[in-house]
Amino acid sequence: MTIKEIVDKYGSKRENLLQILHGIQNQNPRNYINKESISALSKEMNIPVSQIKGTASFYSMFSFIPRGKYVIRVCESPPCHLLGAESIFKAIEYKLGIMIGETTKDGLFTLEGTSCLGICGVAPAMMINEDVHGNLNEEKIFQILDQIQEQEKERIQLCREEALTRF
Ligand code: FES
Repeated sequence: MTIKEIVDKYGSKRENLLQILHGIQNQNPRNYINKESISALSKEMNIPVSQIKGTASFYSMFSFIPRGKYVIRVCESPPCHLLGAESIFKAIEYKLGIMIGETTKDGLFTLEGTSCLGICGVAPAMMINEDVHGNLNEEKIFQILDQIQEQEKERIQLCREEALTRF
């Protein structure tokens, strides 16, 4: 979708800016908002670039740098912290070989910390893109990540097979 199409989808009123920014970020395969998109959005909505950047940088879910296809956001707020968020980070770091703020070499995962996700009843919790996961422990983390890695392997295999049938 072009920036204009995304703006048209949500409506060009300023109050829709967050949804539009989500739309722009979600359609970028590297899960971020690039400079070109911001300047196109500025022209389309007639909002200065500095204001768009200011709004987006207020929210931790937006990024101005490329990230993985799957952004893992582990809650760091007190209830999750008390119930083991630190061990959740350690399990993910061990499994994926990345530290907080880093992206795996294959471009699949980025690990981030975040404030309360609003699901404190199932702490410790995290989000992977739009999906929330609670009552986490090391075993559950490994299951979730294994499942995503397996899906991705199957997807790549299917793409290869499709490509081969074209020849
Ligand atoms: S404190 Fe972690 S989800 Fe609320």
